[in-house]
Amino acid sequence: MNTKGIILAGGSGTRLYPMTAVFSKQLQPVYDKPMIYYPLAILMLAGIRDILIISTAEDTPNYKKLLGDGSNWGINLNYVIQSKPGGIAEAFIYGEEFIGNSQVLLILGDNIFYGKLDFLRNALGQNKGGTIFGYSINNPSSYGVVEFDDAGNVLSIEEKPKQPKSNYAIPGLYIFTNDVVAIAKNIERSPRGELEITDVQKEYLKMNMLKVELIGRGIAWLDTGTPESMMEASTFIHAIEKRQGHKIACLEEIALEMGFITKEQYIATVNQLPNCSYKDYCLGVVG
Ligand code: G1P
Repeated sequence: MNTKGIILAGGSGTRLYPMTAVFSKQLQPVYDKPMIYYPLAILMLAGIRDILIISTAEDTPNYKKLLGDGSNWGINLNYVIQSKPGGIAEAFIYGEEFIGNSQVLLILGDNIFYGKLDFLRNALGQNKGGTIFGYSINNPSSYGVVEFDDAGNVLSIEEKPKQPKSNYAIPGLYIFTNDVVAIAKNIERSPRGELEITDVQKEYLKMNMLKVELIGRGIAWLDTGTPESMMEASTFIHAIEKRQGHKIACLEEIALEMGFITKEQYIATVNQLPNCSYKDYCLGVVG
């Protein structure tokens, strides 16, 4: 089934003030690239070429300046403004027209994944309703938490529980059929005034159409919610890039490897970049 991608890059980013006083969180650097490069790379590596970026009125022009229409990378980037932060599930309402008849992969603009993405490609191929992921972490209280039985059936989903029923946090990576638009329109706002993504998941659970796939330890899922976790993410990316000599989330390289652009298009795109180590790296890829 055709899959479309949404990156939600809204939010007020107050937890990172004063870093976010001028630029939104997902434009902040994670080592050598703006944060949004990482989730965009994941969508591209999953084979998705139609992508909607949802952000605030102030920040959308910056995303357009940074990413353009995507043609340099052989993808289609669309933009929609979320007038005020109203919860993750609002992305499906804003994205209604864009989603159309496709299934949708939503990734939060501040979620960073690193590792072999077979788990994601398989889930996209098998999704029948909703698919969420479970990732074991030390303290899942600041996330959505999923509890399941030995057979993998979901028993409960809770948003930021004080006493989590499992160690499995739900990363900001969700696959839904286009029923999600109607579902998002019908759920009620939570006490904090938001359409909660966990409430969408619960609706699929009620219909017996929710799957949870566990993401193993071989995948790194990093958080960027605090200055400290942003620095840790930068350190992680730096360590791997330095050791391997390959960049993580180099969109030009991914576009070439995925066959989204030809080698000639790649060279033309890279030649437009200003002189910098990123350009040197890109030139080295085909050198
Ligand atoms: C959001 C979701 C939560 C999910 C998390 C992943 O939390 O509400 O269910 O586990 O993203 O990053 P928030 O970013 O609002 O803290």
